[in-house]
Amino acid sequence: MGSLTVFCYFLFSYIKVCICLRIVGISVPTLKQRGESSTLTCDYDLEGGRLYSVKWYRDNEEFYRYMPRLRPPQHAHKLDGVKVDLEKSTARRVHLRELTLKSRGLYRCEVSEEAPSFHSAQAEAFMEVYYFPRETPRITGHERAYQLKEPLDVNCSSAKSFPAPDLQWLIDGQKITDRSWLIAFGAKPAPQGLLVSTLGLRAPTRQRMKLKCVATIGTHRRERTVVIEINSSSWNKSFSLLIMITLNIVCVKIS
Ligand SMILES: *[C@@H]1O[C@H](CO)[C@@H](O)[C@H](O)[C@H]1NC(C)=O
Ligand SMILES: *[C@@H]1O[C@H](CO)[C@@H](O)[C@H](O)[C@H]1NC(C)=O
Ligand SMILES: *[C@@H]1O[C@H](CO)[C@@H](O)[C@H](O)[C@H]1NC(C)=O
Repeated sequence: MGSLTVFCYFLFSYIKVCICLRIVGISVPTLKQRGESSTLTCDYDLEGGRLYSVKWYRDNEEFYRYMPRLRPPQHAHKLDGVKVDLEKSTARRVHLRELTLKSRGLYRCEVSEEAPSFHSAQAEAFMEVYYFPRETPRITGHERAYQLKEPLDVNCSSAKSFPAPDLQWLIDGQKITDRSWLIAFGAKPAPQGLLVSTLGLRAPTRQRMKLKCVATIGTHRRERTVVIEINSSSWNKSFSLLIMITLNIVCVKIS
């Protein structure tokens, strides 16, 4: 009998959780640039219950709480990379200023109701913080004089960024997908937690080639184009030099 009462009570409270409080949605920007600010929102429906607290966590560490019974109702905890702007934060949103690479993480909001229910609900979402300077990627190995039929040996390196940018090579507007032409050197660490991606290109040469390297992070892109011209002018030069020398010898002999 007693266990049935307990069971009914739990069933009842479980149903009440579903009716009384639910998170309608959490909205956390998925990709933000270092230095920007960001507004995170947590939408909930109390369905007649009374709000006890809204707490925000980054990677399980609390950084903001809103409790309507307290004066003031807001409180922010210091966390590396999390600067709360209290004036722009409310019971349903928290505004973060001057994001750093340390601001990235899993953000969770937790909403609780007052007594007697004390029901709570939570939702979470990840925010990535990137740094992508205006600098275009650097191409190396194209400066040397290539001979026709000598394979191209060039590299493209991104500027120091975070996360590691994706790189892509295009020859005369054609995206290179042939893996045997590409050498992925991976991402190398740089100061301040940044990364440099490098992608090599080993392709057959043509008389004139327009090489483009594109670096992307999400929808952001930086690109650089170089033109390689392979001509036989050097060979022509030595050829004409040879002719001149021969002519000179002939002239000397004649005179
Ligand atoms: C390309 O990068 C690799 C790895 O950093 C390096 O060993 C190689 O010399 C580079 N080649 C050119 C042409 O820059
Ligand atoms: C050959 O290369 C030289 C410089 O290396 C350039 O000035 C010249 O225009 C080129 N000739 C052709 C036909 O592309
Ligand atoms: C010398 O250069 C010209 C273009 O500048 C080219 O058309 C010609 O074929 C070259 N001559 C030789 C012998 O390679």
